[in-house]
Amino acid sequence: MSLKRAFWKEAVVYQIYPRSFQDSNGDGIGDLQGIISRLDYLEKLGIDVVWLSPVYKSPNDDNGYDISDYEDIMDEFGTLQDWEELLAGLHARGIKLMMDLVINHSSDEHAWFVESRSSKDNPYRDYYIWRPGGENGERPNNWSSIFSGPAWELDEATGEYYLHLFSRKQPDLNWENPRLRDALYKMMTFWLDKGVDGLRMDVINMISKVEGLPSVQHEDLAPGELAGGGEYYMNGPRVHEFLQEMNAKVLSKYNIMTVGETPGVTVEDAIKYTAEDRNELQMVFQFEHMDIDSGPAGKWDIAPWNLKQLRAILHKWQAGLAEQGWNSLYLNNHDQPRMVSRFGNDGEYRVQSATMLGTLLHTLKGTPYIYQGEEIGMTNVKFPVLEDYQDIETLNMYRDKVTGGGADHETILQAIHTKGRDNARTPMQWDASENAGFTAGTPWLKLNPNYREINVEQALADPDSVFYYYQRLIKLRKKNPVMVYGEYNLLLPDHEYIYAYTRTLAEERWLVLLNFSDVPQPVDLPAELQEIKELVIGNYPEEAGAHGILRPYEAGVYRLNT
Ligand code: NOJ
Repeated sequence: MSLKRAFWKEAVVYQIYPRSFQDSNGDGIGDLQGIISRLDYLEKLGIDVVWLSPVYKSPNDDNGYDISDYEDIMDEFGTLQDWEELLAGLHARGIKLMMDLVINHSSDEHAWFVESRSSKDNPYRDYYIWRPGGENGERPNNWSSIFSGPAWELDEATGEYYLHLFSRKQPDLNWENPRLRDALYKMMTFWLDKGVDGLRMDVINMISKVEGLPSVQHEDLAPGELAGGGEYYMNGPRVHEFLQEMNAKVLSKYNIMTVGETPGVTVEDAIKYTAEDRNELQMVFQFEHMDIDSGPAGKWDIAPWNLKQLRAILHKWQAGLAEQGWNSLYLNNHDQPRMVSRFGNDGEYRVQSATMLGTLLHTLKGTPYIYQGEEIGMTNVKFPVLEDYQDIETLNMYRDKVTGGGADHETILQAIHTKGRDNARTPMQWDASENAGFTAGTPWLKLNPNYREINVEQALADPDSVFYYYQRLIKLRKKNPVMVYGEYNLLLPDHEYIYAYTRTLAEERWLVLLNFSDVPQPVDLPAELQEIKELVIGNYPEEAGAHGILRPYEAGVYRLNT
């Protein structure tokens, strides 16, 4: 074993997007009491940690990722008392709670920003990033917002611009200011002292911006044209210094789990964030495999992908973090389409491909993250009209590209069907009753109409469901350290449709075979890998026997003779 044992390496995490999980009071919005009413379900699944997307006070421009009070709960979700009850309910079941920490930006309705915008000499002015316009009032630089349009907003009160990498209601905090940093550390301590067990840090690699906030220079750029600017704020000059400070002042004082959301990181960057001797974070969410189906024009430019590309990316991360750092393993979350629709087959082979992908997540080396509904094989949704969509990223993009940019409506609607964040945000499908048991009222976002067939009640009644397969995977992880700590070795590196590897820990050696296609695939392995002791887990009811041919989307994990 090359790495030290730790609870966060052995854990399986389940992400809850509270707005869409379970409503308890009929207002159509999920809430904390709703989650509390489903704790037995989570316990049955067997997960170890819940990652709760933000529940803090928020005007919900970006569903809670715009926080107006870091130390209180959003009205729609309940009260601090409900939150305490949730924490106690989780702990009583041996489940830990990881909170979402959104500290690259706040809401423009946060008291700090209200003060900050009020005058140039307000003591909170420097909590945010303000700049005067140019000679002709032009924006301080040409960066675009990640949610479309310019990253700068002119504020009437003082006639200066503030920076917002996301929506104009999410002004960026100024990490250069030590008072701001201390205020954030104090807030983190407030939650950790209440017994929070972990923190997921939203776009944490964007907190340090390059001095001078330079414009993107590119010969193809027309005057006044916007450009990404990520090279000036992703993995910026002081980010490691800031994280080490945060670690020394806060994180190191608690036995907690930390994961940083870090778009655009390379393996080398990730090692800097997570190597054990650097005292920053424990793991990061990298995005390379999430960009696999994006064309040259970015996320909404849909491109085909294939297993060779996906395997090359995942393998690079497995190999790259083998000795230092630690991988997070995920194929979807609240910002991404549903994994079975994206990487599997959400029609005929929905159950087979959902369980095959689940096998991948639980048998690569790293910590698996399950996104709510993944465990019953929930799929993407295709709303026919734009009015059915709620997500600010989607709506801004549509306005930018179609209303403002003349792009074709149908093409963009199709891109939304494939990539839109609302794919993941349709309410959790609990049963076949009206609104899937999610709410007695009108849901804030429409349900996926397939809830009458795909729902928790159905899954719990079917021994061959995705749910029970996930339950088995999670149980296996608890009994078999090889799944957590075993060395990963790639096999059949050029195979078009099969992802195959071994995991080895001392005398224990497991073989994982995954068919990423809807046709049978013969497997050709060296003789020593054919000495199978037993099938540990497989996603077809009857064993294939000698694993000569993998059926469509078949997954098989075998214990080998060593
Ligand atoms: C990443 C979060 O996951 C996403 O939902 C959010 O919109 C942005 N960061 C901004 O906070």
